[in-house]
Amino acid sequence: MATRRAKISVIGAGFVGSTCAHWAASRELGDVVLIDINGDAAKGRALDLHESSPVEGFDSNITGGSDYALTQDSDVVIITAGLPRKPGMSRDDLLSTNAKIVKECAEQSAKFSPHSVLIIVSNPLDAMCHVAMKASGFPRERVLGMAGVLDGARFRSFIARELDVSVEDVQAFVFGGHGDTMVPMPRYVTVGGIPLEQLLSKEKIDAIVDRTRKGGAEIVNLLKTGSAYYAPSAAAVQMAEAIIKDKKRYLPCAVLLQGEYGTKDLFCGVVAKLGAKGLESIPTLSLNSEEKAMFEKSAASVKELVEAMAKLGV
Ligand code: LAC
Repeated sequence: MATRRAKISVIGAGFVGSTCAHWAASRELGDVVLIDINGDAAKGRALDLHESSPVEGFDSNITGGSDYALTQDSDVVIITAGLPRKPGMSRDDLLSTNAKIVKECAEQSAKFSPHSVLIIVSNPLDAMCHVAMKASGFPRERVLGMAGVLDGARFRSFIARELDVSVEDVQAFVFGGHGDTMVPMPRYVTVGGIPLEQLLSKEKIDAIVDRTRKGGAEIVNLLKTGSAYYAPSAAAVQMAEAIIKDKKRYLPCAVLLQGEYGTKDLFCGVVAKLGAKGLESIPTLSLNSEEKAMFEKSAASVKELVEAMAKLGV
């Protein structure tokens, strides 16, 4: 039977991009292409990773360079290119620089892989999804932003540590934009099926919610020269896996809302079903008035950025 391995392209061979390639290849999700404006760096990282495969025992072809022709017919393209923030910067400070970069990456990716699903990782995330959607001309089913899995993973890891339980048993997600107004949803957290409120005090939960919101900045302040990459790349690859294996997973991610949760024509983080078609559906959760207000505030801050881009003409 003639089957074809899945193909994943990763645009941007920095820390996030090359770590995406690492997770994707080592999980044998398919063949991996790493693209960067510095073609030799991409080629070198790809070759180095490929040379690790006999030791680690994975069969994925990993190639790299600066030519988008290498990405031809990818199933999933993960766009990580762009500047990371430095201490004191917000994700929003990257707006105009990264918009230009993401526009170019999305145009080129769409040209060579017109049927692919794009997963955007570059910041400010939700605004960059708008850029990628416009530049690719793809429908909303095939432009997804990686944020909720990352923010949810931070939330889950902090809960697991606090309770001294396996991370595997902690289910949690985060709604809203990938910024300071993100909305962790403790009311929906379960640990081995038990609602979190039965296991932790309100004070402890509030502290974890606050740390989750500031999770990206906590890492930036420690690294000083860049932002997080292990967790962001693992999160992007989990989304890619759900698509490539048609797993139909419920994962929190940024999607273009078309009336869901009272929001229209705006990318924002919600739980979405991911499968072979990309975004397959958006389950409707009931939000209480507090959650609704926080979600609306977060959506409003994404909207401000989208409007700022329009003003800047990017
Ligand atoms: C973070 C960056 C990648 O949250 O947005 O770490």
